[in-house]
Amino acid sequence: MIQKGLEGVKICKSSICYLDGINGRLFYRGIPVEELAEKSTFEETAYLLWYGKLPTKNELEKFKKKMAEYRDLSDEAVNILYHLPRNLHYIDVLKIFLSIHGSTDGVDEDLKEKAIKIASVFPTILAYYYRYSKGEEPIKPRKDLSHVENFYYMMFGEMNGKVRLLESAFILLMEQDINASTFAALVIASTLSDLYSCIVGALGALKGPLHGGASEKVPPMLEEIGSEDRVEEFVQKCLKEKRKIMGFGHRVYRTYDPRAVYLKKVLQRHFQDSRLFKIASKLEDYIVSNRIKNIYPNVDLYSSILFEEFGFPRNMFTALFATARVVGWTAHVIEYVSDNKLIRPTSEYVGPLNIEYIPIERRDENG
Ligand SMILES: CC(C)(COP(=O)(O)OP(=O)(O)OC[C@H]1O[C@@H](n2cnc3c(N)ncnc32)[C@H](O)[C@@H]1OP(=O)(O)O)[C@@H](O)C(=O)NCCC(=O)NCCS
Repeated sequence: MIQKGLEGVKICKSSICYLDGINGRLFYRGIPVEELAEKSTFEETAYLLWYGKLPTKNELEKFKKKMAEYRDLSDEAVNILYHLPRNLHYIDVLKIFLSIHGSTDGVDEDLKEKAIKIASVFPTILAYYYRYSKGEEPIKPRKDLSHVENFYYMMFGEMNGKVRLLESAFILLMEQDINASTFAALVIASTLSDLYSCIVGALGALKGPLHGGASEKVPPMLEEIGSEDRVEEFVQKCLKEKRKIMGFGHRVYRTYDPRAVYLKKVLQRHFQDSRLFKIASKLEDYIVSNRIKNIYPNVDLYSSILFEEFGFPRNMFTALFATARVVGWTAHVIEYVSDNKLIRPTSEYVGPLNIEYIPIERRDENG
């Protein structure tokens, strides 16, 4: 039997995340994700995913210190970054850095330690490259700030009173069971390759517009719609042209994506004047109330508007997603390799057999 797109196929047991696609619920290690977005921090949630439990005060203090220690880039790494072309996609910048680190990092180091190292340095790579590509001086990471506060500070050189909202979005994006990018990471992990290669593969999968790359397509799509009264015309045109509406639909959620529900409330409360938000809300109303293809908004619809409001460049949105999801990817890799089985599916061969090999001089150019 062929299961196209591996839909509904379970590849392992996992205690990291439960996603209830029928009722639109998501849990990290059993805790509802909304509660984590509301009450937890990036570091606490990452700890929960990696270690399987929330940290105590002491454990959290130590863990935060460790993440802060791993923030900075070596002079050599900064030098490499400053020799890259200026117009690279941020996902590709992350891939380059991980590939370099992967070849130079200690092979014997504990996987969890490597995961913490990788997640800690993502914001620095992105912020340094952002400032370099704008011709601005890089801002060194600060150890006294939290992971997300420090990221914002390194990007924009100031603090932002609303940064907690960004942290909630990162928590919501941190983990999502065996999605395409996590699966890519697991395929690589299952060959017993290194953790860096797993993340490079996951980044490549995330970049695609059917996955995390959708976040970069949402704002231009909303701009193309232009105003709330043009939503119906736009949707009908997409249906006619068989064009996907970005930020809608999901392989597992067959109802509202709980992360989109949460972020919509955040936007309603804090960015209600955003033009893109107004168009997105209208788009949601129209699609859901008319049961268009039975699709609902997914997390990318509203996370992209939040990222836009915070002033991040659009071609960094997928990399922002990765900044959070790297925790989930690595948690899954660590769990999977503890009971490893090479992932090697098969296909149903439908081509011919025993075809004669024709020497090149006898091959028909028109055949
Ligand atoms: C995420 C996605 C790839 C899931 O795909 P999937 O599970 O293979 O899709 P489904 O089998 O559920 O699709 C069922 C039908 O709905 C349609 N559909 C699904 N999502 C759609 C969308 N966003 N816009 C328009 N039509 C959509 C499909 O074309 C299909 O139509 P058909 O039966 O006439 O061929 C898909 O919804 C999509 O492309 N969304 C847009 C990109 C996006 O936002 N991605 C981020 C996901 S978090």
